[in-house]
Amino acid sequence: MTAIENRVPAAQASDTRNQTGETMTQPLTGERESQSTGGSDAVVVRDVGKIFTTKKGATVTALENIDLTVAAGEFVSLIGPSGCGKSTLMRLIADLDTPTSGTLTVFGKTAKQARLDQEYGIAFQQAGLLPWRTVRANIELPLELHGFSKAARTARSRELLLLVGLGDFADNYPDQLSGGMQQRVAIARSLAESPNLLLMDEPFGALDEMTREHMQAELAHICAETQAAVVFVTHSIPEAVFLADRVVVMSPRPGRIQAVVDVKLGAGERTDDLREDDQFFASVSEVREHLHGTHATGVRGVENR
Ligand SMILES: Nc1ncnc2c1ncn2[C@@H]1O[C@H](COP(=O)(O)OP(=O)(O)O)[C@@H](O)[C@H]1O
Ligand SMILES: [Mg+2]
Repeated sequence: MTAIENRVPAAQASDTRNQTGETMTQPLTGERESQSTGGSDAVVVRDVGKIFTTKKGATVTALENIDLTVAAGEFVSLIGPSGCGKSTLMRLIADLDTPTSGTLTVFGKTAKQARLDQEYGIAFQQAGLLPWRTVRANIELPLELHGFSKAARTARSRELLLLVGLGDFADNYPDQLSGGMQQRVAIARSLAESPNLLLMDEPFGALDEMTREHMQAELAHICAETQAAVVFVTHSIPEAVFLADRVVVMSPRPGRIQAVVDVKLGAGERTDDLREDDQFFASVSEVREHLHGTHATGVRGVENR
């Protein structure tokens, strides 16, 4: 947890100014939630289906009858075999695609409106950093696009660099960083506008096991600090359990919700000690049983480690 020692105090707010000179206070905590969400759930998915039509006219039912509610501040892991529709569901929530049937809201708004209002941040498996921009400039990109002043951008990126433990790397370029550090930059960028929701699709999938466990602990810490809700896709059962309040287990195509496992690791912050906890092992076993119950021959594409 060394990388997080310089963390930003929970109640600290960043004073930011947009180009019209208005001052906006954007706390790093969930305080903004009560202002912008009206207390509604982060994500509500009702009876959602998604059918793709391929170029040759064949149809693929990627999702069927998906019902899922993610409360404000809740961490939900999505796990299931390759091709069961996890990324499709994320893309629907992020308004990168639209459902064929059913309804989906983000903080009580349509997915499109939530996207326009920048209600969520996104971090996917590839860090997706711009190689010609420094770490700081990558983190500031969303703020630049949305017209924040230079002073506001600088203040916010400094805060976020400390939060993800990269205070000394602001002026480095992405190719000068390890994979884990690049992923931390991507997470910092996703937090730039203090979203109340983070959508993360296998963000640690390309990292080695040691780095990955370290990043999990850091993410748990960041979530405790920011109080953002998270929808987190992973192939790793222990990763799903370590991070989540609930693990949603999906079945192979057509993707459906097979089971929802409540993880009872207590209200305290997730630290590495919990990986030895009996309740951790119990939840890992429960998720594994649900996954294997979906496939007579075992589940491909899901890691037990
Ligand atoms: N744009 C698309 N056109 C056709 N089929 C797609 C498209 N996107 C995804 N699919 C299909 O939908 C299913 C679910 O895909 P995906 O959501 O990527 O699964 P996962 O992320 O769980 O591995 C797969 O069978 C995939 O081939
Ligand atoms: Mg996927």
